[in-house]
Amino acid sequence: MKLNIALLAGDGIGPEVINQAVKVSNAVAKKFNHEINWQPALTGAAAIDELGEPYPDSTHEICANSDAVLFGAIGDPKFDNDPSAKVRPEQGLLKMRQKLGLFANVRPTFTFPSLIDKSPLKRERIEGTDLIILRELTGGVYFGERGRKDSGNTAFDTMTYTRPEIQRLAKKGFEMAMSRSKRLCCVDKANVLESSRLWRETVQAMEKDYPEVDVSYEFVDAVAMRLVQWPSTYDVMITANLFGDILTDEASVISGSMGLMPSASVGSKVSLYEPIHGSYPQAAGKDIANPLATVLSAAMLFEDFKLKEEAQAIRDVVNKSLAESIVTEDLAEGEKAYKTSEVGDWLAKNL
Ligand code: IPM
Ligand code: MN
Repeated sequence: MKLNIALLAGDGIGPEVINQAVKVSNAVAKKFNHEINWQPALTGAAAIDELGEPYPDSTHEICANSDAVLFGAIGDPKFDNDPSAKVRPEQGLLKMRQKLGLFANVRPTFTFPSLIDKSPLKRERIEGTDLIILRELTGGVYFGERGRKDSGNTAFDTMTYTRPEIQRLAKKGFEMAMSRSKRLCCVDKANVLESSRLWRETVQAMEKDYPEVDVSYEFVDAVAMRLVQWPSTYDVMITANLFGDILTDEASVISGSMGLMPSASVGSKVSLYEPIHGSYPQAAGKDIANPLATVLSAAMLFEDFKLKEEAQAIRDVVNKSLAESIVTEDLAEGEKAYKTSEVGDWLAKNL
């Protein structure tokens, strides 16, 4: 297969982790006789510095005309501490999600057998966890009306959802549930929020089209608690943009490190693959960040192109590296910590 992949390294540790995913993907391509054509493009602070915009049109062109996008991370502290900054790197990510129509963010959480005892949660709580949070990504409070009133002394952000927005996300959730254990949990705050009541109403109306799926409805605050108490009781979860943002950070703790969890953002056409972690600016340029989340995001990319063996080969070599403790400092626990690039080299070599 020939794949044109847009390569958006972004900010902070983005370039370092992306490089390892490229190494591993190239090794897979070589082994299975595929051809990958990487198309680098600017995003985030790097794009602001060079072109004045975090997601320039030239980058969008490259992404929209590619088969898939592999993305590193976005964000730079020089903007975080300046509330008056007009352009921010994060706006680039939101614009990209919106312009590429990436309405569903697939964030799996699973445990690695060799890391179970590194999780801050007890083994008996997390063993067997294999869940997917399907986060709505182009609506809700991230994109609702916002502003200031009263001479700037009142601020508001609105959580708005339309029925079709909920339906298309829920449809993916039902389909995913059908291909897994046929359990779907709709996470909302319907005891308080009107938009959540529309979520519940919409999902309930769809239940009849998927009679085999067992649907449950839970409030997001209760889910935040149960997710760390009994994560293995969940399978596919669907939720609004902001709730999903929060719950997926929480869920990443289960696996032992935020540096491990991949994600895919999907919509109508081109999909985007990225680690769920941020740009970790303190580590930028030090060659210490964990590249596995990005490498596993590349595995999700191959999987979506029906290249299942290729995806499995990546997961297998990642498991092998963990079992043999070829890990970066976040997982080394006093033992030898490998550099980001060393982990990437090891994976490519042992694939
Ligand atoms: C994420 C990130 C982004 C989000 C930020 C960087 C805008 O936290 O992908 O989860 O909030 O969606
Ligand atoms: Mn987040």
